[in-house]
Amino acid sequence: MTPILVLLLLTLALLYFLSPLLSPSPIPGPLYARVTSLILKYHEFTATRTAYIHSLHLRYGPVVRIAPNEVAFASATAAKEIYCSNGSGYDKTEWYDLFKVYDRRTMFTTLGKSEHAKRKRLLADRYANSNIMKGGIMEGIKERARTFAGLCEKGGKEGVDLYETKVLHAYAFDCVTLHLFHPHSTNSLTDPKDSEIMLEVTFDSSLQNRLLSHYSPLLHRLLNTFLSNILSLKPRETPLADSFVLDTAAQPNASPFTLLHRLHSQSSLPQIDIAAESLDHMAAGIDTTGDALCFLIWELSQPSSLSYQKHLQQELRSAPPDTPVEKLPYLDAVVMEGLRMFPAIPMSLPRYCPPGGGSIIDNYQIPPNTIVSCQPYSVQRLGPEKGGVFPEPDRFWPGRWLKAEGETQAEFEERERGMKRGFMAFGMGGRGCIGKHLALAEMKCLLREVYGRFGTVPDGRMGRGEMEMADLLVSSRPRGQRCLVRFEKLDA
Ligand code: HEM
Repeated sequence: MTPILVLLLLTLALLYFLSPLLSPSPIPGPLYARVTSLILKYHEFTATRTAYIHSLHLRYGPVVRIAPNEVAFASATAAKEIYCSNGSGYDKTEWYDLFKVYDRRTMFTTLGKSEHAKRKRLLADRYANSNIMKGGIMEGIKERARTFAGLCEKGGKEGVDLYETKVLHAYAFDCVTLHLFHPHSTNSLTDPKDSEIMLEVTFDSSLQNRLLSHYSPLLHRLLNTFLSNILSLKPRETPLADSFVLDTAAQPNASPFTLLHRLHSQSSLPQIDIAAESLDHMAAGIDTTGDALCFLIWELSQPSSLSYQKHLQQELRSAPPDTPVEKLPYLDAVVMEGLRMFPAIPMSLPRYCPPGGGSIIDNYQIPPNTIVSCQPYSVQRLGPEKGGVFPEPDRFWPGRWLKAEGETQAEFEERERGMKRGFMAFGMGGRGCIGKHLALAEMKCLLREVYGRFGTVPDGRMGRGEMEMADLLVSSRPRGQRCLVRFEKLDA
């Protein structure tokens, strides 16, 4: 054995034994995770972190050490502790610095509780269901859903590429700008100029570039030209979106239901913070809702989902046209099941274990400052036999959200409470998604328009694995970056 090899082995052994997570009951996980985070980083850079961590949960169970100072959890109890204890859970890590806007901290990127609570108090009521359900917003969403269905009719049997054309993202963009800025909202479904702004925000291929800038700013600076020109790993630039938001956020006459009205009338925030907060919400509302709809329509189009699609069409076509979307139980079940199987933010939401004595999570003693997280994908896709919540977790089955035949109301409510405890698509606790009601309204209105008028089938040109989820920085997208679906008009 060469001296270098001996030295290397000794160093690894030392790291192994000095590892801060060597608790009396060692945390399960691969041995290398005790000494290095390199394997985890490799998966981050190759857009496979979510799938990698999930494979570790399948192998080691709901608690897995993924790096010397990082533990992933996948149980409902752990999620409650990390994200809900004392209201908004543990503090966020500096990983969220990657999402600062104009170098300002927005609500999403505040790290500590009190800073976050202050910003949230200012905004929260614009996102309350009672505000979203108001005429101005709901009518606008329905109008956009009708425009979308018109595009499906045009594409018809030839098929529409729901991902590459970004029509679903355009719909989400037009809906979120309605809520943020009306009457200065966009019309990207039909106006190519607005579409250019949307494409700039939604087409994000800067994963590797941004990760490198986060982990090693020095190396990033040194390699900048090489990364951009030789490897085409460019930093993200959004000049059209920036000028749209900076101009719009300065407009004085936004409608009372909008976020902008609220920011102008109730806050003393500098104009740059108003623009940063608005841009952050705009970006948060596009890929999430667009991708969630894309994966869900794809799944509903599969032959194995035909009976679910028919059930949905029947509910939508038999309900009186003025039935509010939240009063359609099967539609609700389909949306919940879609978000369970394909959470638009599937990845770890990292937090610091609080200072002091550390925490006990799922019976493991976790030292202070350890990075702990759950990834919505695993919390929702681990079966009870692996410590998760949902039976047959890889089966798309909307009926699980409804009362089963022979089940009493009390039994159903108990089962439903359990499922909701393990539902994490919108995060959990005080830092969970503020846009949840808006997103649900958008998804339901669009599905109602589509499945009230069409049947959908997958286009035969799609290859295997193209609709697997590939990681972006926080959200995901179809690995093949296309989603070809054909729309077949139903009889009137
Ligand atoms: C299906 C659609 C959506 C999904 C699955 C989703 C998911 C999530 C998740 C998981 C979080 C927590 C992130 C974390 O802890 O790091 C979050 C936070 C957030 N979401 Fe959403 N989101 C959706 C739509 C929207 C929309 C439409 C908006 C705004 C218009 C929005 C705005 C936000 C904001 C501002 C936060 C930060 C909240 C805070 O820190 O208090 N989201 N979202």
